[in-house]
Amino acid sequence: MARLDPHSYNDSDQPEVRALDWIARVEFATQTLHAEARLTLRAPGAGPLDLDTRGLTIERVTDEAGAPIVYLLGPPDPILGARLRLELPPGSSEVRITYRTAPDASALQWLPAPFVYSQCQAIHARSIVPLQDTPRLRITYRARLTVPRALQALMGAAFVSREEEGELAHVTHLMMEPIPPYLLALAVGELAAHELGPRSRVWAAPEVLARAAWEFAGVDELVCAAEALFGPYPWGRFDLLVMPPSFPYGGMENPRLAFVTPTLLAGDRSLQNVVAHELAHAWTGNLVTNASAEHFWLNEGFTVFAERRILEAVAGPRIAALHAAAGRRALDHALADLADRPGLTCLRTHLSGIDPDEAFSRVPYEKGYLFLRALEDLAGRARFDQFLRRYLDTHRFQSLTTGQFGAFLAAELPEAAALDVAAWLEAPGLVLPAAPAEVCGEPAPGWSALEWQRYLEDLPSPLSATIAQDLEQRFQLSNSPSCEVLVAWLTRAIEAGHAPALARTEALLAEIGRIKYLKSLYIALAKNPATRARAGALFRQHRARYHFLARSVLGKMLRQLQVPIEQVNPVSLSKRPL
Ligand code: BES
Ligand code: ZN
Repeated sequence: MARLDPHSYNDSDQPEVRALDWIARVEFATQTLHAEARLTLRAPGAGPLDLDTRGLTIERVTDEAGAPIVYLLGPPDPILGARLRLELPPGSSEVRITYRTAPDASALQWLPAPFVYSQCQAIHARSIVPLQDTPRLRITYRARLTVPRALQALMGAAFVSREEEGELAHVTHLMMEPIPPYLLALAVGELAAHELGPRSRVWAAPEVLARAAWEFAGVDELVCAAEALFGPYPWGRFDLLVMPPSFPYGGMENPRLAFVTPTLLAGDRSLQNVVAHELAHAWTGNLVTNASAEHFWLNEGFTVFAERRILEAVAGPRIAALHAAAGRRALDHALADLADRPGLTCLRTHLSGIDPDEAFSRVPYEKGYLFLRALEDLAGRARFDQFLRRYLDTHRFQSLTTGQFGAFLAAELPEAAALDVAAWLEAPGLVLPAAPAEVCGEPAPGWSALEWQRYLEDLPSPLSATIAQDLEQRFQLSNSPSCEVLVAWLTRAIEAGHAPALARTEALLAEIGRIKYLKSLYIALAKNPATRARAGALFRQHRARYHFLARSVLGKMLRQLQVPIEQVNPVSLSKRPL
């Protein structure tokens, strides 16, 4: 028996599931999916088949003829969930599992609108479908969702049909390309669409559709630039879905339908790098995939590299370089934050017993990017581009480990031996000298969001209240339409004790849900003794609206920063023995 992925019960000696046929009724009243998953095996098999589940209630397991299959649902592990072991009779080729999800399924956020969406990466697909939830194994799928007739049902897959029946609609999607399970994606709600180009449209809540249409008008230019770099776009369509504000990430590369945060709607197209990033995943990640979260840098490091190449092609080398410099500052911060967990600063990580959501940082993104840049500088752009194309072509629809990448590199780009490749891949920290100080001059009204971000992040610490006041007066930074600038500004202004910034921060914390921004703002509040208690109070006030992941990441962080976040209960206090 071999458990090759520390985050899955999958045993590589057992049969592999090839296809999922999924039937699910989306019930808002109870926040439940009532579902049947039909799993087809790659080859007829027998004996135990271990599947990943989390919070699922299993109602029935049968073969395709309806004959019961013996199963055992194990106890829940806090990271992995519960193992569902089926005992397959000889010659089994299909199993059918009838089940329902828990109202707190970790992949789903249910909103009152009504709206429900999934976020399956890294290991949450198992909370909505029992399957081999490891990116090592790919599946094709067909899904038939039953939803209230008034709502749209979207998936990261090709639309097939919508049939209406009374108050309900049955919506079928098909994913014919094999995908890792973390790319399974759905969103159900009141949504409208605007055509952006020959293979792209944007979906959004009706009230933000016009802004979204403007912000993403240039998407086909990005797709064309990406195709010139990495080859034909492999997934047919590239649509965008503007998520509700509580979406915890900037973007998620669901195939054919990338999910993006509404904070991208800055009105200046300054955040098109996030779209370029999710688009780049169509090749780096969705086509060539990390074999487990321990090799996550293969997904994200390559994607940041590809993102900046796309950006360079459409916006020029200066913009790409500004993004790279911002990335380097973020990396230096992440490395400092992880000083007591050096294992998490390696590209190849070891994550047995560690939740991938907890291991998440900018390190795989930006250290991975710098490693690929170092290779490119060594080989020259033309040769490195060829290498990249060969890497993508050779491993289409496969999942790789860092070791497999290293072997391919040694064979295909032998000059890489001039670098200490093993140190880059396996050692903690950064092999490079400190980033050179940048000269960025004095602020000017015409500055772009990126220039402001750099200026604000580089202002000397601690920032004085006078400087903060002066900046606010001259440039009204609290009104910046770019969340990147706004958050960079507010964190510095809170540090400076600039009172008007507190009100703006409080309003923002009530509005947004992207973990990256929430983290920066809560850290700033917690670090200033004058606002520390406020951080706890604001978190208590808003946490119910945050995505469960934001809630858990921020809760842990605030506790570490010794911010009191639990409600003081006078009854239990008075009952405490003296
Ligand atoms: N796939 C990630 C988001 C993700 C990673 C979700 C791990 C769950 C687990 C996505 O492509 C991403 O990297 N988003 C970034 C975009 C940025 C780097 C431009 C984000 O959300 O900040
Ligand atoms: Zn990414």
